[in-house]
Amino acid sequence: MKRLILLLCLPFILVSFSFCKGKNKKSESANADYIAENTDFAAKQYGLMTKMIEDSGKILNPKSFINGKYKFIPPTEWTSGFFPGSLWYVYELTGDEKWKMPAEKHTEALDTVQYLTNTHDVGFMINCSYGNGLRLTGNKAYEKVIVQAAKSLITRYKPGAGIIQSWNANPKKDWKCPVIIDNMMNLELLFKATKLTGDSTFYRIAVSHADQTMKNHYRPDYSTWHVVDYDPVDGTVRHKNTHQGYSDESAWSRGQSWGIYGFVMCYRETSDPKYLHQAEKALEFVAGHPHYPEDGVPYWDYDAPDIPNTYRDASAAAILASALYEISTYSTKKDYKGWADHIMNTLASPAYRAKVGENGYFLLMHSVGSLPHNSEVDVPLNYADYYFLEALKRKKELEK
Ligand code: GLY
Repeated sequence: MKRLILLLCLPFILVSFSFCKGKNKKSESANADYIAENTDFAAKQYGLMTKMIEDSGKILNPKSFINGKYKFIPPTEWTSGFFPGSLWYVYELTGDEKWKMPAEKHTEALDTVQYLTNTHDVGFMINCSYGNGLRLTGNKAYEKVIVQAAKSLITRYKPGAGIIQSWNANPKKDWKCPVIIDNMMNLELLFKATKLTGDSTFYRIAVSHADQTMKNHYRPDYSTWHVVDYDPVDGTVRHKNTHQGYSDESAWSRGQSWGIYGFVMCYRETSDPKYLHQAEKALEFVAGHPHYPEDGVPYWDYDAPDIPNTYRDASAAAILASALYEISTYSTKKDYKGWADHIMNTLASPAYRAKVGENGYFLLMHSVGSLPHNSEVDVPLNYADYYFLEALKRKKELEK
């Protein structure tokens, strides 16, 4: 009987199988087109950007383009690693050797950053530039820079509180030892330093920081505060505030993305399921938020009072998309890859992606640096481009 049923059903099974195959082929080629088209666009824009820099005769580091004027930054600014990092991603995505030289030049212009001890951002700066350079070229000299930068970063570790101090004390705000959620991103440098040296100190500090952040930065609904101020000696939590969000109790969008990305990365580096769980829950907060727009690009703060008449933040979306591609390889709780693809389609649409030759040659429009400070509002930002390119690269790997 079973055999008979199977025989009767066989034609239907074969037809639906070939239909699915056809459908898969179609979506495979749409994905390939998306990747090729966006890679080509990035190469064109960044080709114009690097030419403009070459023509200046200087090694300029572009952060943004505001009211028709470039904002160039020194190596000590927190975003200095993103432009070199984007050049590495364009090199990787295009496979074209011509990108290697500018990527190296802009990376090596950050040489002195490895010694900075006055900020936690050394993780962003060195990992995005030298970290990608090392990954793609195996250059041994880059290993040394990464290890030195990790040594500088851990000078900010406060053993009594178990965290790395983000910013210096600020008596005006009564902050003794402020830690921002963004700091989760700097831990990747520490994991790398342990792999390079075999010294577990860096790893243990990263894990301690992640654990304290999980405990103190997150609300019961799995949204995150921006700033937690600690007593550096005994670890008492003194304040929970915002700096770039709408209010102390609101959910600043880029902060939510930094936290999600950071915990996905911690899961990759430790295989500890609690970090994966944290990322899944924080993603549930975003997905379920009544102000999270249909097109997947968040407003600058999930609790901004003037939604929908306020700004979106393409950088928060790009960071989120990159994290979603990675978590899709660890968890099937949700269609994380489908979510990431949806965000990437919006970002690559004319609503967010610039036209070739416009937008100061940055890729994406409409990011927000800090709305409360009226700084870099609704402009291109080098880190929106960086995480867009990283997400594109992750997508390319997933489609293989
Ligand atoms: N890390 C600073 C920012 O996200 O604006």
